[in-house]
Amino acid sequence: MKNYGNIVGWGKFIPEKSLTNEDFEAYLDTSDEWIYARTGIRVRHVVNQEEQTSQMAADAAKEALRMAGLRGHDLDLIILATSSPDYLTPPISSQVQHALGAKKTAAFTLVTGCTGFIYALATAQQFISTGAYKRILVIGAELISRWLDYNDRSTCILFGDGAGAVILEATEKQSGVMSFVLGSDGSKAEHLILPGGGSKHPPSHEMLENNLHYLKMNGNEVFRFATRILGSSLREAIREAGLEPEDIDLFIPHQANQRIIDSAARQAGLPPEKVFINIENYGNTSAASIPIALCEALESGRAKIGDTLAFVAFGAGLTWAAAVVKIIEREEQPRKSIWKLPILRWFS
Ligand code: ACO
Repeated sequence: MKNYGNIVGWGKFIPEKSLTNEDFEAYLDTSDEWIYARTGIRVRHVVNQEEQTSQMAADAAKEALRMAGLRGHDLDLIILATSSPDYLTPPISSQVQHALGAKKTAAFTLVTGCTGFIYALATAQQFISTGAYKRILVIGAELISRWLDYNDRSTCILFGDGAGAVILEATEKQSGVMSFVLGSDGSKAEHLILPGGGSKHPPSHEMLENNLHYLKMNGNEVFRFATRILGSSLREAIREAGLEPEDIDLFIPHQANQRIIDSAARQAGLPPEKVFINIENYGNTSAASIPIALCEALESGRAKIGDTLAFVAFGAGLTWAAAVVKIIEREEQPRKSIWKLPILRWFS
């Protein structure tokens, strides 16, 4: 009997502070008109000084756990997709495991840029289908704003911070990740790179003087790559799931650029009314963008239990990923717990 990982809980964290296109207009040679027309973005949220990636990830995960009626120690594994951890070491996944009270739960961090959430979902599905684990928390969390040069108009207007999380629970009913397509092309690595702070350019005065601690992007190359790869990988994932484009109820793409999303949907034969887009309000939140969009789609009723969803993303590496995911009704509700009482939940 095969095991599937049905999504039984979801949650997100969005920082309160926001930056509008007008905020950039006030000091940069740019305009709301240019940004919106070229990207589809009007607002992005960014952390304040006290907020960290681990805290955003833990807050999103706590919401997902509450929704699933679970506590940290019910989890068998935590996979955290991020390129912007609190530290190079220790792994942020262990920080979040501790914050969730998930004592001794296995945890690891997965780094594939904006495709991280789909890579993590596909990985989680493998642990569930072998029967190794029953409940896995998958998080996408990013705090890109600390690595942006706010005088570089070609990158700073694009990104926002945030986190989203889902819980996969083993079931014998067909659900969860029905198919996935993953890929990478390291020959294009320099098109999206944060050169400083690693082993090649460790922290030094020289590194800072040369601005190597900021994200560098060749926007045109990344754009070309994305529009070439997304439509075909999405079509392949749909085919691998044994489905046709019309079987997809909602397409939830990585929110990087409205024009890239439109092109991917068109190439995969998905009509605009089946595409979920929230880039206008968040910008590109990298590995967090799909789980945040999934939460919003489910909260707003655009996606429902029983739906078949398609995800697609591209990112640093350069990498790409697509998946078809089905969410079904949960078979068995978790035990009634006194921790569900609002007053006690605060302590949980
Ligand atoms: N405001 C005004 N003008 C700008 C701005 C801005 N914010 N940014 C760039 N320009 C200028 C450029 O300097 C250029 O001027 P020039 O012609 O005088 O040299 C002109 O606009 C056109 O620049 P292009 O780069 O050709 O503009 P394009 O239409 O390609 O849009 C953009 C740029 C939005 C960055 C686009 O290339 C893009 O979205 N690329 C993909 C980026 C992306 O999604 N990256 C995330 C990857 S995922 C991850 O893992 C993090």
